[in-house]
Amino acid sequence: MRLDKFLASCGEYSRKDVKALLKGKRVTVDGAVFTDPGTHIEPEKNIIKLDGEKLEYKPFVYFMMNKPAGCITATEDSRERTVMEYVPEEFMHFSPFPVGRLDKDTEGLLIFTNDGQLAHKLLSPKKKVPKIYHALVEKTVTEKDIKAFREGIYIDEDGYTTLPGDLRVIEKGENPLCEVTVYEGKFHQVKRMFEKCGNRVLYLNRRKFAGIEIDEALPLGGVRELTGDEEAVLRSGDLSE
Ligand code: URA
Repeated sequence: MRLDKFLASCGEYSRKDVKALLKGKRVTVDGAVFTDPGTHIEPEKNIIKLDGEKLEYKPFVYFMMNKPAGCITATEDSRERTVMEYVPEEFMHFSPFPVGRLDKDTEGLLIFTNDGQLAHKLLSPKKKVPKIYHALVEKTVTEKDIKAFREGIYIDEDGYTTLPGDLRVIEKGENPLCEVTVYEGKFHQVKRMFEKCGNRVLYLNRRKFAGIEIDEALPLGGVRELTGDEEAVLRSGDLSE
């Protein structure tokens, strides 16, 4: 691994900072000062110090985004804007990717990591990872709809019946606001579940994924690293509510 990449992966330094740290002769590898950003190091073997303090190697990154509408959940696309446009430069050297997908017009919580094993676990249908959405819908929600969500809804295009979910009206009105919990991530799942009930989703926002809640302080397009506790929730496999 390059020395500059290692320094950037420690979290607090931008590319520009890293250059300055090296130029300032503040970085040592196994006791010797190195100023060349391209110096090859082995993070698990070499001891890298900054101003005499040992730097810990951090191979993985975990962060959340409050996804705005108008971008697709992909790492690249030749035509459409992607969520990567909102990922700050300092995370890019980790090669992060989104865990799961939100539709182009869906907003809210999207988790990113470069930890493939964890992502695989979180996306496995067997794990039944809970996802909570707020859905603004066109028409009144009936007891029959709530029962249908609770029992699972047959989606005929797929010949598939969804796992039992949960539907709750949070705000009544001409266009009710609902909280929906589902345990899988089929294409357009929430929209299709409402469609099967003769209703239509006007706006969808994910509030919670795998026990992690959206940080209300994040503006749309905002990103922040997960806290140690949040990271532990994801890693522990304790995916209960
Ligand atoms: N269900 C949907 O219909 N769309 C999403 O983006 C997420 C869940």
